[in-house]
Amino acid sequence: MGSAVHDNIKIAIRDVTKLYSNNSHSLIALDAINLEIMDGEFFCLLGPSGCGKSTLLNIMAGFEKPTDGKVLIEGGEIAAPNPRYVTVFQDYGIFPWRTVQENVEFGLEIKGIEVNERKKIAEVFIKMVGLVGFEMRHPIELSGGMKQRVSLARALAVNPEIIFMDEPFGAVDALTRMKLQEELVKIWREENKTIVFVTHDIDEAIYLGDRIAVMSSMPGRIKSLLDVPMNRPRLRTENDFLRIKEKIYLEFFEYADKK
Ligand SMILES: Nc1ncnc2c1ncn2[C@@H]1O[C@H](COP(=O)(O)OP(=O)(O)OP(=O)(O)O)[C@@H](O)[C@H]1O
Ligand SMILES: [Mg+2]
Repeated sequence: MGSAVHDNIKIAIRDVTKLYSNNSHSLIALDAINLEIMDGEFFCLLGPSGCGKSTLLNIMAGFEKPTDGKVLIEGGEIAAPNPRYVTVFQDYGIFPWRTVQENVEFGLEIKGIEVNERKKIAEVFIKMVGLVGFEMRHPIELSGGMKQRVSLARALAVNPEIIFMDEPFGAVDALTRMKLQEELVKIWREENKTIVFVTHDIDEAIYLGDRIAVMSSMPGRIKSLLDVPMNRPRLRTENDFLRIKEKIYLEFFEYADKK
């Protein structure tokens, strides 16, 4: 009998090292990272600016190559971006010349899905992210939070197995951000996707993640791996939430011995 635990691994990061070098010096952006992300898991990568979060995410998504080590998705080595996995970027990555509807349909066009079917699918996801009534608008007419929703709808529309998200809510205000976090959790629960979510916001990681990899920089390493054993929807004022938050603060600021 196979091991159920291992059958469940969606993404395996094996000894991934990334060096950036130029003529004068080299920088270890990632130092022998090992991680396993489970099928259907909401996994957060949390760490300060420059610790290598985007580098690691881009390697997982196939946009960058590791200097050493490899990333396996369902056992196969990832070498290039693959339409089964989509990435949502911090700057939305949507096309200014396309309407909301046309943006959401983009990935479906690439897949060769015919026009009526495309419209139907886009409608479902535009509704899911709360943009009904804005189908014919262009990105310039939308707020940051709305653009982020378009980006999310476009990603979801192609029915990806994995969604890689790089600080997707960084550019929106705190209240909109909480709303988007809530909606993302709802969609993730309904759609049963694996999500890898990069953030430097401790609250965001605890609100969203099943597990959190806390990273440190220079060189980029996984400092610790935390479970978030809390039911959803989560409350930011619950004791469990605050306990995990304190634990992460202690990791970052290492003042535990001074208490
Ligand atoms: N193309 C590149 N060439 C050289 N160095 C790079 C390159 N990309 C990233 N780096 C360096 O690698 C390190 C990790 O960068 P990365 O963008 O992965 O950090 P990050 O954790 O995503 O930071 P932030 O939270 O600010 O987005 C940084 O020191 C950065 O300067
Ligand atoms: Mg980054």
